[in-house]
Amino acid sequence: MSSRNIAVVVLAAGKGTRMKSDLHKVLHPIAGRPMLLHLLAAADTLSPERTVVVTGAGRAQVEAAVAPRGARIAVQAEQLGTGHAVMQAREALSGFEGDVLILYGDVPLVRAETMRAMIARLNAADAPAVVVLGFRPAEAGAYGRLIVADGSDRLEKIVEFKDADARERAVTLCNSGLMAARGESLFDLLARLGNDNASGEYYLTDVVELSGAAAVIEADAGEVAGVNSRGELAAVEQAWQQVRRARAMADGATLIAPETVWFAHDTTIGRDVTIEPNVVFGPGVTVADGATIHAFSHLEGATVGSGATVGPYARLRPGADLSENARVGNFVEIKKATIGVGAKVNHLTYIGDAEVGAGANVGAGTITCNYDGYFKYRTVIGAGAFIGSNSALVAPVAIGAGAIVAAGSVVTRDVAADSLALARGRQEERGGWAKRFRDAMIARKKGK
Ligand code: UD1
Ligand code: MG
Repeated sequence: MSSRNIAVVVLAAGKGTRMKSDLHKVLHPIAGRPMLLHLLAAADTLSPERTVVVTGAGRAQVEAAVAPRGARIAVQAEQLGTGHAVMQAREALSGFEGDVLILYGDVPLVRAETMRAMIARLNAADAPAVVVLGFRPAEAGAYGRLIVADGSDRLEKIVEFKDADARERAVTLCNSGLMAARGESLFDLLARLGNDNASGEYYLTDVVELSGAAAVIEADAGEVAGVNSRGELAAVEQAWQQVRRARAMADGATLIAPETVWFAHDTTIGRDVTIEPNVVFGPGVTVADGATIHAFSHLEGATVGSGATVGPYARLRPGADLSENARVGNFVEIKKATIGVGAKVNHLTYIGDAEVGAGANVGAGTITCNYDGYFKYRTVIGAGAFIGSNSALVAPVAIGAGAIVAAGSVVTRDVAADSLALARGRQEERGGWAKRFRDAMIARKKGK
């Protein structure tokens, strides 16, 4: 890799009309993260000296999303073409010396490796002024066609589909839109662009012919897939998931039905983890070695300790922290709560704002009543405590270690360690009452 500085320019001024959305197209999430941030994360691994996002409509949304990453915003008030869009980055790039990598905000899955290959080609011995990333789609459709000198990677020109003749349209090598160019000549080339073409736009692609020294490298079609509609968004999501599922398996996890497991961009999965069908990971989940996530579970912002089991049909919400060998069973929801080593919360339970000690057993239907409509309160269940089924623990409340709460209790006061707490109506029994009742009713019905 060259030691020249790199600047990244991301084009994102397109309106994204076909998304039919109030959210800017490049902010639609893939694997729980805005697509633009996937792209910037990959680009950041090249340690660019600066990053500029060119945006127009919806600028404020984009600015808010990229500001934390230190990217600059350039505004293209009117969409006059891809060449015009790059020109808008001129001011943001003033004083920059080095290579400029041009990306599309709506082509989010380009790998850092590919970006590096483009820069490396730009700095090869023959030193082209421009490197274009080409690909061969199944359907060449309306993509720009790459006209290459016979038997070389020398790119003569790019012809937009609308401007192409029949011979040019027959070319299968297409323009992904992505380009690397020498900063020293890029803006001079852009200044020479005209808009005398079928679209009346300033085409970035024309810098190829103007430079007289361009090269092409090829990418996989999936990697340069763009998002213009919700359908394409789903296709790109699917492609991302396929790669992630394969990686999870390569790293030693068992996915019984991989096509039904949905990861987030930052999911961390250990070895010997089993993930059953139809599991969804929201952002912020870590699953340690040897854990099992049973079918139909939904996890977000949660940590699952080694050997722990979750589900089927469990919901782990942000702040759920399961220690080693903890068990969280069916129809259980855990939020902002730690479940101690080996503790069991197996059936039909809500645990929120709580701490469940090691080895504790929380019976079926137990609810931590953590909210009074205004504030949230904590429940602490000591190690080895046993909470009988269908108990309501009204927080703030603490159940001591080793204590037993009788089934059906509504616990409003702290329970000392090793005590039994009974907080329910006492059982009464009236011998023969049921029979007397039935006999009386039958007699009354007959008398009518
Ligand atoms: C462009 C390429 C074409 C290529 C195709 C790949 C040109 C002239 N053509 O065509 O060769 O095959 O991409 O998808 O470059 N944008 C702006 N401002 C503008 C226009 C576009 O920011 O004024 C941004 C869009 O938001 C988008 C990208 O540039 O991210 C491409 O724009 P689009 O209109 O899709 O270009 P195409 O005509 O499809
Ligand atoms: Mg397009």
